Amino acid sequence: MNTLIQKLHNAKNSQELESIRLEALGKKGLITQKFSELKALEGEEKRQFAQTINTLKQEFETLHNAKKLELQTQELQESLKQEKIDVSLFTSRSHRSLGHPISYTKDRIIDYFMQLGYELRTGPLIEDDFHNFSALNLPEYHPARDMQDTFYFKDNMLLRTHTSPVQIRTMQEQTPPIKMICPGPTFRRDYDLTHTPMFHQVEGLVVDKGNQASFANLKFTLEDFLKYIFGDVKVRFRSSFFPFTEPSAEADISCVFCAGKGCRVCSDTGWLEVLGCGVVDEYVFEAVGYKNVSGYAFGMGIERLAMLTCGVGDLRSFFETDLRVLEQF
Ligand code: PHE
Repeated sequence: MNTLIQKLHNAKNSQELESIRLEALGKKGLITQKFSELKALEGEEKRQFAQTINTLKQEFETLHNAKKLELQTQELQESLKQEKIDVSLFTSRSHRSLGHPISYTKDRIIDYFMQLGYELRTGPLIEDDFHNFSALNLPEYHPARDMQDTFYFKDNMLLRTHTSPVQIRTMQEQTPPIKMICPGPTFRRDYDLTHTPMFHQVEGLVVDKGNQASFANLKFTLEDFLKYIFGDVKVRFRSSFFPFTEPSAEADISCVFCAGKGCRVCSDTGWLEVLGCGVVDEYVFEAVGYKNVSGYAFGMGIERLAMLTCGVGDLRSFFETDLRVLEQF
């Protein structure tokens, strides 16, 4: 036993420690063997021997655990030291970059719309039910309100599930004409290859007096925007549904990977869905007290656009701060 304890003290790393543990407590270990000797004993003698080896075992385990913690801490420190990046080290390679694909894509979207006179807006990430849902014509039992999608707090507060509440806030604070975009984080309870619990959207809203703002304006703007982002692609609008726009549409671009021929990324359809849009529903104008106006709105996921323009296959890699991924940009 004394040699075992001596060995514990001298152990230099976790592997060595583990082999000492096996020497003592493994199947054929010293202490384990003592337990099998119990069978041959009886009465008081058996009781006393059992007590002795139990104490021994406990003593060994206590020491072993303390040593384990000590070695693990030491090993962690060492690996941290080795993996540390010395940003002041000289390197012949230049590390200037476009920036993170998300901010790069976001900035390009902002550039486009600001050039057209859109105003940049922000809104709170913690929203109330009115702005995130009911003012947007999402009635109480609408599936999009399901607990599965939304992170709720107490008192009907939640993490915004889209940037659309900023439409409501802008209309409450301003009078038409309105031309705004709002980029920012949004949150949904989702996690896989193409979903992360936090992601980014850009919202757009145009409101004008009378019936100035039409679906035709919306279609023209978005078509031009998508060509600005993706270059020479075809754009199509498919009718769709959103509670806060009527009519609603989703815009697709011809697949950037196969030029519309059909591949794995576009599920052989030749098309990729990139944004949702539509003419603002009368109900939404009513909720903010607007009369005799018209408008259109659109929303898109920044990660989705970034994945398509930067050729990134797994959305999660945007958030893992892995230099091997980031260095490619
Ligand atoms: N908010 C919608 C979504 O998150 C997108 C959208 C915005 C659709 C504006 C139409 C108009 O999917």
